[in-house]
Amino acid sequence: MRILPIASGKGGVGKSLIAANLSVAFAQAGKRVILADLDLGASNLHLIIGCRSPQTGIGTFLSDTRSDFSRVIMDTDIPNLRFIPGDAEIPGSANLKQNQITALAKRLLSVDADILVIDLGAGSHQSILDFFLLSGRGIVVSTPTVTATLNAYLFLKNTVFRLMYSSFSRGSPAHIYLEGLRKEGTALQKLYIPKLLEHISRIDPESHGKFLKRMQYFHPRLILNMLDEPKQAEVALKIRRSCSEYLGLDLEHLGVIYRDSLQDIALASHLPILLYKNEAILSQAIYRIADKILQSEEDEVFLEGRSIEESFQEAELEAEVDFEARMGYVEDLLHCGALSMGDLVETVKSQQLEINQLRKENLFLKSKLTKAITQGFKI
Ligand SMILES: Nc1ncnc2c1ncn2[C@@H]1O[C@H](COP(=O)(O)OP(=O)(O)OP(=O)(O)O)[C@@H](O)[C@H]1O
Ligand SMILES: [Mg+2]
Repeated sequence: MRILPIASGKGGVGKSLIAANLSVAFAQAGKRVILADLDLGASNLHLIIGCRSPQTGIGTFLSDTRSDFSRVIMDTDIPNLRFIPGDAEIPGSANLKQNQITALAKRLLSVDADILVIDLGAGSHQSILDFFLLSGRGIVVSTPTVTATLNAYLFLKNTVFRLMYSSFSRGSPAHIYLEGLRKEGTALQKLYIPKLLEHISRIDPESHGKFLKRMQYFHPRLILNMLDEPKQAEVALKIRRSCSEYLGLDLEHLGVIYRDSLQDIALASHLPILLYKNEAILSQAIYRIADKILQSEEDEVFLEGRSIEESFQEAELEAEVDFEARMGYVEDLLHCGALSMGDLVETVKSQQLEINQLRKENLFLKSKLTKAITQGFKI
């Protein structure tokens, strides 16, 4: 079974919308899918997939972790898709105890499905990190705003720390060192990871080796949501660069999604956008991402440096193509005289400029990457 946790640092970036619609796309592709709402305390996925208010959910299970977990898995009207509701009543996931996290993780890992999609809450609480780390290829969603991208990066930094902590056994020099820093009041999040790892490799090579081994299987993926124009797609490169330089993480780009006003109507109709209007730009972007995920699951291999680079180029191209489609309505405006030819020429000129700038940055990064790879740079 494939596990696909969907997280973000910042709230409201589109995690639930993406989790719900990707699940529908996988189900339509013939996969047996279970969608789990783990945004405890703020569960709302049932509204997006159009299920009536659930009677039981994760909260029911957590109140007695020895109870039958299958009771909380419900059928939906969508063939191949089942749903595990969260719980809006119980306090948020921040309040979960470690034994509850472990019990829930164990049950989730043993459900009978081809794909388990997990919608997580915002933030970097330990339970969220642990559920995200149930897979090495979880998805981080961000929008192009500074706060959302910064929070996405900080979320990934926290996952790396969590991996570090769980790789070091209690009593090992590396664990004692990290604990010491914590007791001194050093905020771990403020530490510079490459330097910290260099020190750990000196004082405790065994733990350092264990951590590196776990990192080999950790390849999170990015979705950039709510774009308004292609230029905003550039921030993905910034997240990627920070992750590579400061966290030793090679982030893959699954693609961009534009803001689509049809989503509000779909939501009001209690339908996932894929069922409301499957030719909407938002739906098409989700199908494209779902295809990439299914393809990568089939290939089973993690993308190497070159393909990672291609994933960013592809997303950049898609940002341009989708923008063109989105601008299709310009033609209508021209016909009815709301837009003059002069306006149009100006718009095309400025867009061309943006595209050229993106190309230049892309070429620059490509040459840097080729150089790094030929010099034997490997994460
Ligand atoms: N591409 C998009 N186009 C239009 N509306 C969108 C898009 N993505 C998300 N939205 C809308 O933005 C709002 C927030 O989305 P959503 O609830 O999926 O975010 P979230 O990350 O799950 O939030 P939370 O952190 O609160 O769980 C919703 O009203 C959703 O319909
Ligand atoms: Mg949500």
